[in-house]
Amino acid sequence: MRRRIFAANWKMHHDPLAAASFALRFEELSSPVEGRHLWFFPPAVSLATAAEAFGRRPDISVGAQNVYWEAKGAFTGETSPLMVAGCGGRGALVGHSERRHVFGETDAETVKKVKALIAQRLIPMLCVGEKLPEREAGHTADVVRRQLRAVLTEITVTEAAELLVAYEPVWAIGTGRVAQPQDAAEVHRVIRTVLHEHRVPGRVPVLYGGSVSLANVAGLLAEDEIDGVLVGGASLDPAGWASIVAAGT
Ligand code: PGA
Repeated sequence: MRRRIFAANWKMHHDPLAAASFALRFEELSSPVEGRHLWFFPPAVSLATAAEAFGRRPDISVGAQNVYWEAKGAFTGETSPLMVAGCGGRGALVGHSERRHVFGETDAETVKKVKALIAQRLIPMLCVGEKLPEREAGHTADVVRRQLRAVLTEITVTEAAELLVAYEPVWAIGTGRVAQPQDAAEVHRVIRTVLHEHRVPGRVPVLYGGSVSLANVAGLLAEDEIDGVLVGGASLDPAGWASIVAAGT
């Protein structure tokens, strides 16, 4: 049976109170389905609340949107994988386009974050994707290969087999411009080829993200290459998110 992953990236939305009421409402609207797994990535301040609120649901995991690679110390404003685990988190996004392009995160930093998460037995969801000028110049595959290889050359194949990968073209994030399912699938094939070249065993789930909505989720998930979706704006409302999850299942 094909497994599907629906991941909600709340970005800088939903404080603990909002996260708790979201969870309550969402659980009324969406029951577990075999072969389907849900992830929620709330802001760090709401992580413990969300992890507790969804704690009874084995089909739901909660993770952080970002981590720092040290376990503790004088790193004002940062959150370590150890702390994420302490909040009941099971993983974290790494290299999200806003981390890379708003906060200047480098490939080298994504590697350190992935390794720190693995060391803490947390699941990294590594985000990769090209900017519009890179796509227009025909460099999409090169960019995605570079971002992925930076990580794969620094971890073992067994560790790599535990990764989740999200392809998120930067030009599609929060813009309402979604990649055509066939175009996304083509990049997913590039990702799979790189995983294969690095001899990563099994099928690493590859998700698509960028303006996923109720209108396009089924079309995207109809592609064999697309194992799930990572959704920002359209995941913020419990009823809206429950309908997207249902439409894509
Ligand atoms: P969006 O964001 O669904 O609002 O485009 C996706 C993401 O940034 O993960």
